[in-house]
Amino acid sequence: MKIFIDTADVAEIRDAAAMGVVDGVTTNPSLVAQTGRSYRSVIEEICEIIDGPISAEVLSTDLEGMLKEARDVATWHPNVVVKIPLIPDGLKVVRTLTDEGIKTNVTLCFSPTQGMLAAKAGATYISPFLGRIDDISWDGMELIGQLRTIYDNYGFDTQILAASIRHPKHVVECALIGADVGTMPHKVILQLAKHPLTDAGLAKFLADAAKIPPT
Ligand code: G3P
Repeated sequence: MKIFIDTADVAEIRDAAAMGVVDGVTTNPSLVAQTGRSYRSVIEEICEIIDGPISAEVLSTDLEGMLKEARDVATWHPNVVVKIPLIPDGLKVVRTLTDEGIKTNVTLCFSPTQGMLAAKAGATYISPFLGRIDDISWDGMELIGQLRTIYDNYGFDTQILAASIRHPKHVVECALIGADVGTMPHKVILQLAKHPLTDAGLAKFLADAAKIPPT
């Protein structure tokens, strides 16, 4: 499974990139707003750090506005993937952009039928928000499994980009189901590497090493 980092914080992206585990980046308007910078400047800097798909979201919601904005966002850098909301006009935009060779990430997916339509419209990625489904006491992981089955049944090329990941268990379950990508906060990437037995084992090794004579 590819690992994307879900943040607009370039310091976090640099840190995770240095570990060699980041395949791409996803952003959304809420994350970019936290930086106090323009969307374009943040995306251009991210593209200098990570050589992989970088998702940038359109802010319009009407057909013409989304199309105009998406075509502009796609010019920011060759690695930019344009994030389009999963609404009926958004699907029209996805079909047009796909026909023009512009990559898309269809965001705010909460049901298998939405995911099916995004794939039929030609989306490069579908972003099911599994944590937000869990938040309302439904089962976000069930959606990941449903999308995997539907896409495999019919040979859709759209990649499942599991989003709204909140903890390592989400990551493991997505990988077992066969999500193509998991996008997660910097904190979760660090949690993936953490284990109390690793820390305890290292502390013991260091304590014992102190007893080793120098020569
Ligand atoms: O970027 C989209 C998604 O990953 C947002 O996650 O935690 O705000 O539900 P969250």
